[in-house]
Amino acid sequence: MLSKQTDEKIDQPLLSNLSGKPTKRPPIWLMRQAGRYLPEYQALRKKTGSFLDCCYTPSVASEITLQPLKRFDLDAAIIFSDILVIPDALGTNVRFEENIGPMIDGLNEPKDVAKLHFNQSLLDPVYEAIELTKKQLSSHVSLIGFAGAAWTLAAYMLQSKSAENFQKAKQWAYANKREFDELLAIIENAVVTHLVSQVRAGCDAIQIFDSWAGLLSVTDIQRWSVESLTRIIRDFKHECPTTPVIIFPRGAGTNYGLYDTQYTGASAIGVDQFTSLAWASEHLQAVLQGNIDPLLLALDKDAMLTQARENIALMKGKPFIFNLGHGVIPQTPPEHVELLVNLVKESDCG
Ligand code: CP3
Repeated sequence: MLSKQTDEKIDQPLLSNLSGKPTKRPPIWLMRQAGRYLPEYQALRKKTGSFLDCCYTPSVASEITLQPLKRFDLDAAIIFSDILVIPDALGTNVRFEENIGPMIDGLNEPKDVAKLHFNQSLLDPVYEAIELTKKQLSSHVSLIGFAGAAWTLAAYMLQSKSAENFQKAKQWAYANKREFDELLAIIENAVVTHLVSQVRAGCDAIQIFDSWAGLLSVTDIQRWSVESLTRIIRDFKHECPTTPVIIFPRGAGTNYGLYDTQYTGASAIGVDQFTSLAWASEHLQAVLQGNIDPLLLALDKDAMLTQARENIALMKGKPFIFNLGHGVIPQTPPEHVELLVNLVKESDCG
């Protein structure tokens, strides 16, 4: 049984590249590959309740996870959920309002931090959705679990909603340094527990989204993003030593170097579309993932395909995971995704 599992894992192009072994052509998956650009997602959402109800209903979450895999020849599925399920399970009551985005009962007083309690049982449906999904995937397709990084989750919990610069969250952090560190530690513990449970339920790899890393100064990015991620990866590896970790410190720019494998322990780094893949491959040891501009994918298919060919040529012979620089946007024609996936899948011929 064990050797069968090991063989299956070697057979996954995503895992091969994550372990440093390039495959003839790079594996491809896309951040937000499930979601509003797919008519079948829209149709299912009309029949189901709120966005979070979908995340917390295993059969629905699993069906949405598999929707893009039915259309496109992708190398990985990412479980349909959200980074904000952790703040929800910590007791800050998350809702998603149509055309507004997430609304969270934010932390106001410093003493509110001590009231947080991680009710992990709320997340049991996520693990059930993973079990259901894993059974239906081909053995060559990897299943990715995920969580938000502590800084990004703290930013939402302190701001109460999405914002351009999360100034309220930063002000809170500067004014209440001790409580902010406590908040990061509470979130880190919940994130590690959630990631480990996702692996135990069947995920082959995990990704940690630090979507708002790019808002931090050089000093703050080191202490609140890099060091926090390093602790999360260390504690996660303690429980799951062989499961690869992809980190996505979006917007880190020249600070991407701070996140390299030798500092954080991450296997791979997701590069956004504002950072040159050529620069990253020259300066980073980590396996790279990225970085087609989601707007190009939606709006300019020919330029997108040219860029895709360039990225494949640049990374030829190196471990690499083909992806976008951020998530698929709702305006994306599904045919563009199909063209992209087919181009990458056929790229070992040339
Ligand atoms: O396919 C996948 O990638 C898996 C599912 C997934 C979702 N959210 C589904 C979702 C993943 C990996 C996420 C991560 C996530 N969620 C991040 C990190 C990545 C990033 O975009 O930077 C963040 C910051 C969130 C928080 C979040 N969730 C916001 C701000 C919003 C509202 C804005 C928006 O894009 O709609 C969401 C909602 C959300 N998460 C949707 C989906 C499919 C849209 C829900 C709907 O209206 O149907």
